[in-house]
Amino acid sequence: MNTPDANPLLFQPFTQRGLTAKNRIVVAPMCQYESVDGAPTDWHLIHMGRLAMGGAGIVFVEETAVEARGRKTYQCAGLWKSDQIPAYRRVTEAIRQFDGIPAVQLGHSGRKGSCHSAMQGWTPLTPENTAPDQPPWTALAPSPLPDTPAHLLPHEMDRDDIATVIAAFVESARLSGEAGFDLIEIHGAHGYLIHQFLSPLTNQRSDGYGGDRDGRMRFALEIAEAVRDAWPENLPLWWRASCVDGKGGVWDIDDTVVLARELKARGVDLVDCSSGGIQGDTDMPIVPRTPGYQVGYAETIRNQAGIATAAVGEITEPDHAETILAQGKADVIAMARELMLDANWPARAARELGIEAWWEVLPPSYAHRLEQRERVRDLYAERSHDKLSDEQRTFIDSI
Ligand SMILES: Cc1cc2nc3c(=O)[nH]c(=O)nc-3n(C[C@H](O)[C@H](O)[C@H](O)COP(=O)(O)O)c2cc1C
Repeated sequence: MNTPDANPLLFQPFTQRGLTAKNRIVVAPMCQYESVDGAPTDWHLIHMGRLAMGGAGIVFVEETAVEARGRKTYQCAGLWKSDQIPAYRRVTEAIRQFDGIPAVQLGHSGRKGSCHSAMQGWTPLTPENTAPDQPPWTALAPSPLPDTPAHLLPHEMDRDDIATVIAAFVESARLSGEAGFDLIEIHGAHGYLIHQFLSPLTNQRSDGYGGDRDGRMRFALEIAEAVRDAWPENLPLWWRASCVDGKGGVWDIDDTVVLARELKARGVDLVDCSSGGIQGDTDMPIVPRTPGYQVGYAETIRNQAGIATAAVGEITEPDHAETILAQGKADVIAMARELMLDANWPARAARELGIEAWWEVLPPSYAHRLEQRERVRDLYAERSHDKLSDEQRTFIDSI
């Protein structure tokens, strides 16, 4: 794969509807717990800016709640009112400045709301462990089943609550457009509200939003339909799925194939294949966390539902990412933690996959100097300093 001037799939443009990403590297959504009243801060400008600057084609802002009570924590991102738009515009403009596609993941935490951040183990808020102006709130859920015994009992959603949340997704999609996003992903995974409706472990309703799989999928499909209607026809809509519930779960890959077909029929363009978030006591095994541990889900959904997929999860090596695409297992590669370690991973990948002018993945201010350094290295690879021509030494001295 390391042939000079190769043309790797990872760097082929990716077009859906009227939108073309410059490559197939996706910054996966990553909650930061740095928002103020839902709106991004300077932290996000730097965090998202450096990821966009590193060369990824599509740059997702973290899970963004469609209403205030749909956040996990008071520091989570949200987009439910126009006051929040200017702060998002700074972020989307920064991403666009580096030719990245600004993307947002819209979600609702459901019964996982009202807690502290990941750094504090997502422990539930209590009057004793939270500031007086940030009290615990009653979370929503399809059924009155708490996430853990320590969580407050969630409110069982009635028809009005369901309609309110669907309307919040629609409004948040509209605001996303105003904020400058070109791509929306709906967060249907990780044990949050939509996943809570899908899994029989968390959905024990007896009305039309529960019961058999069709009933449990209804909330998800109504959201997909409503957001698709509200989102411009020429822009793609993605869906993040927990392809299996996780340890001791019930919802499995066959269920996700059926869901993916229904989502496709409603105009969803890609399923981002994740897993986990709802645990029970069945014999469904723990999902391992080995390299590419969810790629098999992306392959199955792509083949059996006929929809584009994103592979995500412990994909850190350029050759691995390229092989997944070459074997037709996914259409794009999403990455989170490796990009936190190395935001310039796309440039590293371009170099390792044999793109001659790999530095061009980075902005000109960086690329120019890296190209010069490469030329110097090439000169020294051929001969020692004292064997260089005067012209070559002058060049070396000039940089
Ligand atoms: C800091 C952090 C925050 C995350 N936040 C989100 C999120 O907001 N939405 C989501 O769907 N997944 C979230 N994830 C999961 C990632 O998007 C990704 O699926 C997971 O980390 C596996 O990919 P990786 O091995 O490349 O990190 C988060 C992961 C990390 C590390």
